Amino acid sequence: MSRTLHVSRDLHAAGRHYLAGGVSSDARRVAGVPLYVDRAQGARLWDVDGNSYVDYVLGQGPALLGHCPPAVVEAIAAQAARGMVYSAQHAAEVRVAERICAMVPSAERVRFNTVGSEAVHGALRLARGYTGRSKILKFEGHYHGWLDPVLYSVHPAVDAAGPPGAPVAVPGTAGQQPGHADDLIICPWNDLETLAGLMERHLGQIAAVIAEPILCNTGAISPDPGYLEGVRRLCDEHGTLLIFDEIITGFRLAPGGAQEHLGVTPDLSVFGKAMAAGMQVSALTGRAAVMDHISTGKVAHAGTFNSQPVGIAAAEATLRILDERREEIYGTLFERGTALMEGLRSAAADAGVPMLVDGPGPVFQTYFTDAAAVRDYRDFAATDRAKMARLHAALLDRGVNMVPRGLWFMSTAHTAADVATTVDAFAGALRDL
Ligand SMILES: Cc1ncc(COP(=O)(O)O)c(C=O)c1O
Repeated sequence: MSRTLHVSRDLHAAGRHYLAGGVSSDARRVAGVPLYVDRAQGARLWDVDGNSYVDYVLGQGPALLGHCPPAVVEAIAAQAARGMVYSAQHAAEVRVAERICAMVPSAERVRFNTVGSEAVHGALRLARGYTGRSKILKFEGHYHGWLDPVLYSVHPAVDAAGPPGAPVAVPGTAGQQPGHADDLIICPWNDLETLAGLMERHLGQIAAVIAEPILCNTGAISPDPGYLEGVRRLCDEHGTLLIFDEIITGFRLAPGGAQEHLGVTPDLSVFGKAMAAGMQVSALTGRAAVMDHISTGKVAHAGTFNSQPVGIAAAEATLRILDERREEIYGTLFERGTALMEGLRSAAADAGVPMLVDGPGPVFQTYFTDAAAVRDYRDFAATDRAKMARLHAALLDRGVNMVPRGLWFMSTAHTAADVATTVDAFAGALRDL
């Protein structure tokens, strides 16, 4: 099967002269013509050539309620007519901060930013300012945005990344300020013993351990039973702050994020993506004692567009829906996600293709592998990632849009019929390969 892409092809040919690489984010680079979207509604996208897709990218996660949920669109339009930027305080940000504090276990105070990378930056600075320590421990395979201090060892070449039990910090890009690696400790995920050893070796120096509580940028890898509790205990023993990067998991796994879903409470957490259904709002939250280093002005935090009223109006409408309709919403996300995962597993089994389909349900991953489990970055790197990129292209040709690396985001707009259509397309795409 293949799509007609005349308009997309022409746009891409022209766009490459003006947009570096023809795209506006490296995450959109694909072999061939990228998706040129004309419009989005519910669980569907339409491209500029009139092809339609069941969408499991959802803007890389934000469209948890589907594209253009009416209550959020109305709130945005109403606020836009009253002012798009104030760079001053307003009532809605107080209400949204109050709701976040009620919904999220670790949240006692909030500061708003625009994107996830910025909120992570705020969290790391706050952790250093609070503890007076300089080092940050991050896990191999975890992504915390594209800024210099943390863009290390996300998907490094395995032969440059050191032994599995003692990974080295591999920079993510040319041009990165090299000194940042001196303050970064890289640890394998789901390995408590190595973490304990590293924390002992850097005694009194680690300001914070930062983690995606469910790793969603390298597969969809849940913590082993007891692992996050162990991480929490080690942080407490060492006076190190625990930061959960909930940019993907926040409001997706539960109203209080992965921290509610998994029952482990960090000191600080960052949210973005799903909290405003597609508008650019992120938040840094945490324990009052830590956040009050911002309250007093000891640790700087700023931004022209922080609590920008249109974004906050979207967040207010979104969080109200998630909070007030929590049973129905999270029931649907898990039920549909599980049904789709089961359908994809059956399609792969029927096709005789070794495949692992794993993850909590509202977000999950397909891997080409014989392995029974993927527990960390090295396991992920051993799966057939080139074949996954080909599956992505084959699925687009059959009207399904997943994240190219094999990640699937569910929304409340996906119906049982969408699941059935997707499973058929998936079976066809496996045949196409
Ligand atoms: C876990 C995680 N942290 C941080 C970020 C950075 O967020 P943004 O792209 O909004 O800067 C992302 C983006 O995908 C993410 O997945």
